[in-house]
Amino acid sequence: MASILIVDDEAKICKLLQAELVDAGHDALGLTTGREALDRAGQNPPDILITDLRMDEMDGITLLKKMKEASPHTDVVVMTAYASVETAIETMRLGAYDYIIKPFNTEELLLLIERIESTRRLREENEGLRSYIASGLDDRIVGTSDAIRAVKKLIQDVSASEAPVLIRGESGTGKELVANAVHKTSRRARGPFIAINCAAIPETLLESELFGYERGAFTGATRRKLGHFQLASGGTLFLDEIGELPMSLQSKLLRVLEEYRVTPLGGEKEVKVDIRLVSATNQPLEEALEEGTFREDLYYRLNVFPIALPPLRDRREDIGDTGRYLLEQMGRKGSDLGEDALRKLQVYHWPGNVRELRNVLERATIVRPSGKIAEEDILLTTLKQSADTDGAPEGLNLDEMEKHMIHKALKISAGNKSEAARLLGITRRALYGRLERYQLDDEVNT
Ligand SMILES: Nc1ncnc2c1ncn2[C@@H]1O[C@H](COP(=O)(O)OP(=O)(O)OP(=O)(O)O)[C@@H](O)[C@H]1O
Ligand SMILES: [Mg+2]
Repeated sequence: MASILIVDDEAKICKLLQAELVDAGHDALGLTTGREALDRAGQNPPDILITDLRMDEMDGITLLKKMKEASPHTDVVVMTAYASVETAIETMRLGAYDYIIKPFNTEELLLLIERIESTRRLREENEGLRSYIASGLDDRIVGTSDAIRAVKKLIQDVSASEAPVLIRGESGTGKELVANAVHKTSRRARGPFIAINCAAIPETLLESELFGYERGAFTGATRRKLGHFQLASGGTLFLDEIGELPMSLQSKLLRVLEEYRVTPLGGEKEVKVDIRLVSATNQPLEEALEEGTFREDLYYRLNVFPIALPPLRDRREDIGDTGRYLLEQMGRKGSDLGEDALRKLQVYHWPGNVRELRNVLERATIVRPSGKIAEEDILLTTLKQSADTDGAPEGLNLDEMEKHMIHKALKISAGNKSEAARLLGITRRALYGRLERYQLDDEVNT
């Protein structure tokens, strides 16, 4: 479906063409002056402009030139009577896509539109790729290790496809960054990228956020609200922490992925949604499958194209480049990263991955506002490293130490077990095991 403006000073022809194109499923509007077309395009540039050549007020050539200035991505078709074919050919030099000789039948015009649409798709695909590469796929996802190269290759491989992508990786490994890259390299690059974190939104709100609602759907629904599925139409919907999606919504999501239609809450009509789904998880979903908290059929739908992100500790050779890149992003020079500081960064285990690296460097730039960052500016404060000096009584045995750390993690995460497990660098399941062993479970909510 293309958005099309038709301009012909003969109102009858205008109406007729509009009706025929709308019938064929296009979003078409007929106007009788070039002025109106330019006004419209100013707010909402059409994919295609079909204009008559000879018109009194503003002729087709002037309209073509002005349209190309205002909206370079609009493809222009010129309609002309046989007598002025030469002029029509001339318009192609001025940037028209093609011309069509009057009188023509609808079939002919529809074929031409189809051809334009496929050219547009190709062009968008190329532009998406090109602009992304120009903006530096290699700069943005920093790293030259085999592991990160493999990730970049996967992003390129999937760029021509619409398949759902599932990104896995520990916290801070760049899942959102990669989700964005998948979007930017796809043919949807110019459409919206809508990210939503399934763990951050309460279950009751999540459904209305995703599906939207009609006015009066529930108490408090004073206006109609579009859901994220609709907002992401034409682009990519990124569902972060998909493992936290409640069961009730899992079956609904599955249905969306089967039919690409949604029904807003309180609505009667199904709405088509044209989305590409990218999801991410930092927990192994296989565990959730075993526990029965994640639907297997949904898992297979989401996991068509998996991308696993390596933790920073498994690609230590990238720490230097990444550190320098992050410093540059903070307005410093890459060379500000001193040798001894770098060595300290390289031996650390980075439970919070690149995000933690960024935080550590951010602090360093505060304590050292200019010049080289030195070893003493690098403060590494995660649990694993600081537990021994951070309030743990002397002379604990290993079990007591572990208990102490779990207790602390739960305190920091305000009782959130997933978060605590993440802080401790263990799986949720492993945390549950230890909670039971140390009989700490009742502390979770304290
Ligand atoms: N390879 C990389 N190159 C450059 N920057 C990176 C890279 N990986 C991650 N980052 C940066 O690190 C930060 C964290 O990345 P991101 O938010 O994508 O991680 P995440 O995996 O989604 O984390 P979480 O699971 O906590 O949501 C961001 O600022 C991101 O730009
Ligand atoms: Mg994230």
